[in-house]
Amino acid sequence: MKPNQIAIVLSCSDREEESIQLAQRLDLPLVSSREELTAECKFYIAYGAEGLSLCMTGKAAPGPVRVDFSDPRLQYRIGDATKSQGIVKAVGLKGSKHPAILDATAGMGKDAFLLASLGCRVHMLERSAVVHALLEDGLQRARVDLDKHSIVSRLSLEHGEFGADLQCDSKVDVIYLDPMFPDRTKSARVKKNMFVLQKLLAGEQQNEKLLVQALNCARKRVVVKRAKTAPHLTAITPDIEFKGSSSRYDVYLTSKGASD
Ligand SMILES: C[S@@+](CC[C@H](N)C(=O)[O-])C[C@H]1O[C@@H](n2cnc3c(N)ncnc32)[C@H](O)[C@@H]1O
Repeated sequence: MKPNQIAIVLSCSDREEESIQLAQRLDLPLVSSREELTAECKFYIAYGAEGLSLCMTGKAAPGPVRVDFSDPRLQYRIGDATKSQGIVKAVGLKGSKHPAILDATAGMGKDAFLLASLGCRVHMLERSAVVHALLEDGLQRARVDLDKHSIVSRLSLEHGEFGADLQCDSKVDVIYLDPMFPDRTKSARVKKNMFVLQKLLAGEQQNEKLLVQALNCARKRVVVKRAKTAPHLTAITPDIEFKGSSSRYDVYLTSKGASD
C-alpha cells in the first residue's frame, strides 16, 4: 500500500483530536471530508458513532469494516461449542488448562477474542498499522462493555511483525497463525469485509519464515488456521489436523512430550 492510497477523513467533529493524533501516528494525510480525497486514494479511515472504520473509495465500494466483538456471527461462534471445537482442540484447551497464546497474525481479533472468552490469555501481534488501529479501537469499545470487560482483560495488543520485531517469549505455550484471508466464504457480508482487507494487505507473505520462527518460539505447539481444503502453509507436514465446518487447524507440536 503506497502512502498516498490511504487517508484519514475527519467525519466526526467530537473525535477531531483523536483523528489528528491517529494521522500523526500512522503518518497519513488528514482531510476534512470524503470529497477532498485525491483520485489515487483507494481507502480511508474515519471515526464515526460506532468507532473507527476502514472504507474503500469508489462507487461499488463495499461497506465500512471495523472490529466488532459484538458481531452476532462471532457471538454465535462463542456460544456454540461445536463451532469452536476445532480451534479449542487445536490449541490444547482442556478443562482447567488454559495455554498462554501468542496470536502472531491478529487481524480483526476474532480468533483471539474467542480464545480469550474460553479463558486463555492471548497476546495479539499485528503488523499492519491500520489494522492495529482498528483493533485497538475495537478493544477500547469492548473494555467499557460490562459483558466483555473480563474477556478483554485477557487480551493484549502489540504493533509489530512476527519474525522481525518480536523476540521469543519463553512463556508462550502456543503460537497461533492465520496469515491469509481465504478467497471464498459463505456469507456475502464476510466476503465484503475480507475483500477490503485483502486489497489493503495485498503483498508478499513469507510463510516458510513465519512457521519456522513460530516453531522455534512456541513451548508446546504452533497452530495454523487454513481454509478447509487449502494446502498446508509450507512443505512442513503438521502432526495433527482438526477440521471445522469451513476451516482446518494444522497443529505442529514443538515439544513432543507435551502434546496436551
Ligand atoms: C487473516 S488475518 C487474521 C484474522 C484473525 N485470525 C481474525 O480472527 O480476525 C491475517 C492478519 O495477519 C497479519 N499478518 C500477516 N503476517 C504477519 C506477521 N508476520 N506479523 C504480524 N502480523 C501479520 C495481517 O496484516 C492480517 O491482518
